[in-house]
Amino acid sequence: MPWDPAIYLQFGAERSRPAADLLARVPNEKPARVVDLGCGPGNSTALLTACWPEARVTGVDSSVEMIEAANAANVDAEFVVGDFESWEPAAAPDVIYANAAFQWSPDPVALVRRMFAHLAPGGVLAFQVPQNFDQPSHVVMREVATNGPWAEKLDGARWYDPGGFARGPDYARALQRARRDIWTTDYLHILKGPDPVFRWMAGTGLRPFLDRLEGGEREAFEDEVMTRFAAAYPLEKDGSTFFPFRRLFVVAARN
Ligand SMILES: C[S@@+](CC[C@H](N)C(=O)[O-])C[C@H]1O[C@@H](n2cnc3c(N)ncnc32)[C@H](O)[C@@H]1O
Repeated sequence: MPWDPAIYLQFGAERSRPAADLLARVPNEKPARVVDLGCGPGNSTALLTACWPEARVTGVDSSVEMIEAANAANVDAEFVVGDFESWEPAAAPDVIYANAAFQWSPDPVALVRRMFAHLAPGGVLAFQVPQNFDQPSHVVMREVATNGPWAEKLDGARWYDPGGFARGPDYARALQRARRDIWTTDYLHILKGPDPVFRWMAGTGLRPFLDRLEGGEREAFEDEVMTRFAAAYPLEKDGSTFFPFRRLFVVAARN
């Protein structure tokens, strides 16, 4: 199942908020070259072009669907299909930015080390990655995936475990030569409508599981995940659902 920009952007405001919070801490005032890695449908790239209208901004994403959506979004940037694992800049960027993207790498710590090395002198690497892999949203997915009749098909659909994901100190060590600004923020998203956590996850973390299932089996998997999400994230009296979400921010500047 390819990325679906429309599903992803159902929660566009919540997903773009950390992109803005990350950008606010980037110290470079007049970068010439800016790259948005894992740019998705261009929502994060639009913030970069608004902040630096004179910069040459490039968005890179491995999903053809996302790049098509970005091109249609009327953002003043160049968008290219590319894999950040093998990506190399034609000229050293002043800002390499990645919002909610590097967690898809099998080794994000090695990735950020490589990205930092691509920067121009005085350049800045800024990225944000979720830190919620130990939360019910992810625990439920993994439990349902490993305990149902689909267990074999879903084996290996996800490459990190709840305790094994990289945290602030891992990135701080990897970027030892940089001036580092590293913090986490706990957002409390207040979501509306039916099954909001399921709809949120179907746009991101659930995709590797849903990709491998079809027909009745996929429906049964979805039903079980939905039921368990509803128990873990109950409805408030006003019909909204609280969805706590921790994110890690790293801004690393080259001297
Ligand atoms: C959660 S979206 C983030 C989109 C946007 N940056 C934002 O702030 O909302 C993650 C994006 O990373 C892209 N992605 C995942 N792995 C990638 C890779 N190896 N190379 C390039 N893009 C990748 C996905 O296609 C997806 O569009």
